[in-house]
Amino acid sequence: MDISAVRRSFPALESGLARFDGPGGSLVPSVVIAAVSAAMSAGMCQRGTVSEPDRLAESITSGARADLARLIGADPGGIVFGRSMTALTFDLARTLAAGWGPGDEVVVTRLDHDANIRPWVTAAERVGATVRWLGFDPDTAELDDIAPLLGERTRLVALTAGSNLFGTRPDVPAVVRAAHEVGALVFVDAVHLVPHAPVDLGELGADFLACSTYKFFGPHLGALAAAPALLETLHPDKLLPSTDVVPERFELGTLPYELLAGVSAAVGFVESFPGGAAGIEEHEAALVTRLLAGLEELPAVTVHGRPARRTPTVLLTVDGVAPADVQRHLADVGVVVTTGSFYALEAARHAGLPSTGGVRVGLSAYTSEDDVDRLLAGLATLA
Ligand SMILES: Cc1ncc(COP(=O)(O)O)c(C=O)c1O
Repeated sequence: MDISAVRRSFPALESGLARFDGPGGSLVPSVVIAAVSAAMSAGMCQRGTVSEPDRLAESITSGARADLARLIGADPGGIVFGRSMTALTFDLARTLAAGWGPGDEVVVTRLDHDANIRPWVTAAERVGATVRWLGFDPDTAELDDIAPLLGERTRLVALTAGSNLFGTRPDVPAVVRAAHEVGALVFVDAVHLVPHAPVDLGELGADFLACSTYKFFGPHLGALAAAPALLETLHPDKLLPSTDVVPERFELGTLPYELLAGVSAAVGFVESFPGGAAGIEEHEAALVTRLLAGLEELPAVTVHGRPARRTPTVLLTVDGVAPADVQRHLADVGVVVTTGSFYALEAARHAGLPSTGGVRVGLSAYTSEDDVDRLLAGLATLA
């Protein structure tokens, strides 16, 4: 595969920096920037069927639903766009909790980003429902068995498809099967998985799947996917004059058409990568193997978590050097990493990480072997 051609698509790489900050938000290829810009230049106002600008807004919106649905194996009629995954999850949790009460239970995991914990905990507490916590092995970062937490009062299980801290990829279909056996709904946070692997909502079997397009080469937007028939059963807060049609009734206010144009372009970018999403997964798997092997050679470096299936996101600490100092040292040699616990607060605490968290090294579709070697060389002069 010609990685240099892929890298030429990203104007930000012209800086010459080696970028490992993708899990916080990926770089954006020229095609996405051009699509957003073209949409803004087109003079759209609102969606409609009569004037040309209105029809364009309509077709950009339906195009973005269709394109994202194709990428994640969902129904275009069940794609809801929102400001962020966090905002969408809070909204959905409030809506679902309207049907819960005392004695009902929701399961959240300690491995998740707080955006897939706090909305459920807050919503459950508000209606007197019980929260059950699924832990993980602090050493491997593998989720514990969910079976003991499930029962006939379980209403919802919220879990991650990819940990943004340790890279763990839990066995989502197995959790879904167990949850469905007791009649619970399953909400999957795929924000950290969609940038790194093929994702298919049908294969996962989950009821809801959330992702964020700015994590996979697109603009800053979140999206929620579900079967339209399931969305039909839910009644979110909405304005009186706004449509009651699904999925629109879950979308508050006017959609950002220019960003939706960027979503379609971002999906097009993933599909144009040699081998598509599977090609990205393969490219990154080879690089993370190289990275982990190189880190093994550095005795002062500890890699946190040893998940059997992982995304190419590695959390590390260096003996005797604060994460922020590692970050500064690497920045001095043109290598960009990030530090902290990245809102995976429960995960960081459960794994016993210091309050400063760790150094997160995130590989991406645009990462090269040279980037990885520069990072390893930078760490070697520190450790
Ligand atoms: C795994 C995971 N879930 C959820 C979120 C929240 O996404 P958003 O910024 O769209 O609310 C993030 C953001 O970093 C994340 O990494």
